[in-house]
Amino acid sequence: MHRKPALMQKMNKEMRAKLSPQSRLILTGRNADDSFGFVNPPIVRGSTVVYPDYDDFMARKARFTYGTMGNPTLEALETAFNDIENGSGVVVVPSGLLACTLPLLACLSAGDHLLVTDSVYRPTREFCQKTLSRYGIEVSYYDPLIGENISTLLRKNTRAIMCEAPGSQTFEMQDIPAIVKAAHAHGAVVLMDNTWATPLYFDAHAHGVDYSIQAGTKYPAGHSDVLIGSVSARTPEQFKLLRETWESLGLIVAPEDAFLTLRGMRTMALRLKHQFAAGLEIAQWLERRPEVSCVLHPALVTNPGYELWKRDFTGASSLFSIVLKPAPQKALAAMLNDMTFFGMGASWGGFESLALPFEAGAYRTATSWKPDGPTIRLHIGLEDVEDLKKDLDKGFERLRKTA
Ligand SMILES: Cc1ncc(COP(=O)(O)O)c(C=O)c1O
Repeated sequence: MHRKPALMQKMNKEMRAKLSPQSRLILTGRNADDSFGFVNPPIVRGSTVVYPDYDDFMARKARFTYGTMGNPTLEALETAFNDIENGSGVVVVPSGLLACTLPLLACLSAGDHLLVTDSVYRPTREFCQKTLSRYGIEVSYYDPLIGENISTLLRKNTRAIMCEAPGSQTFEMQDIPAIVKAAHAHGAVVLMDNTWATPLYFDAHAHGVDYSIQAGTKYPAGHSDVLIGSVSARTPEQFKLLRETWESLGLIVAPEDAFLTLRGMRTMALRLKHQFAAGLEIAQWLERRPEVSCVLHPALVTNPGYELWKRDFTGASSLFSIVLKPAPQKALAAMLNDMTFFGMGASWGGFESLALPFEAGAYRTATSWKPDGPTIRLHIGLEDVEDLKKDLDKGFERLRKTA
């Protein structure tokens, strides 16, 4: 029996773009014809691809040519990321960190200069410092709030600018369009770690970003059981370079991880919608707590980044930080030990809430970060908001009693 092609396969790029991202994520990356009629694509494992005859082999005439070059499960996931990124092509890699490092490897060469936001995810910074510098690439850091003044830092050999908005611990917003304008006028490319907002809440390519980076480990996979990343390129030339670099490094993702991520993405829009509202409600509640000195959440009207967030973003995820009023370490420990819902862990974007103490001041070089008191990064999961407030309330009680 010949089935009709799935709706998404019949649509061209313009028609797809008219669908809401939520509906796109339901239709994308599946075609009953390729899946024996089942709704989801199968998990295809494989290294060798066998060819029907000599001529086909010599011409590598096959949809998939070798295990490291892709497989149907991975292709389904690439399609899904592509359908929300709206760029020229996506590569999927085995971690979010690789999604940050791969496009840097793709677009930089020995002798080039790279500008990196001082608020960047720390392992990305370490890769720039320890690895890129060994390959003859100069790296310097800039104030995340620099905006159009980034042009004063551009050197003759500046090839790329790395952004992250907001910074994933300290939550400074960046003026991405201003940075893009200065970079493009100079012939440099802009990379952005867009894991916090995801393409659903910040359309990176529409704002001129050349390489849009996702730690798919977070909201796309969404269940704290997969490490994965994606990079989307704005232009076909940028995608060619990215894909060539991906192929040359052999960065294939396990098909089970690709499958689980695609499964997570079906509900990503709904999870994010809930987490945006829940995160903001808890952030507003925390602003009124006497133990809290300030809440670092760009969607709060009191936040210095609010105007940029409102101008460029269409939502917020549920990751933000709080600065406590000065308190001894033992009081912080008493607060964070014994939480019911808030686990103490580093990754985020899953269904569970997290509370993580952090120190962002120690490794900055372009700016100084000196909070009034201890800092905690919170991730709001899918639990009942009132239960989370009660959990935090009890934590504050332990903090006060131990201080
Ligand atoms: C902003 C940001 N980018 C990238 C990553 C890296 O993702 P992964 O843990 O999948 O390597 C993280 C992880 O915490 C992150 O917070």
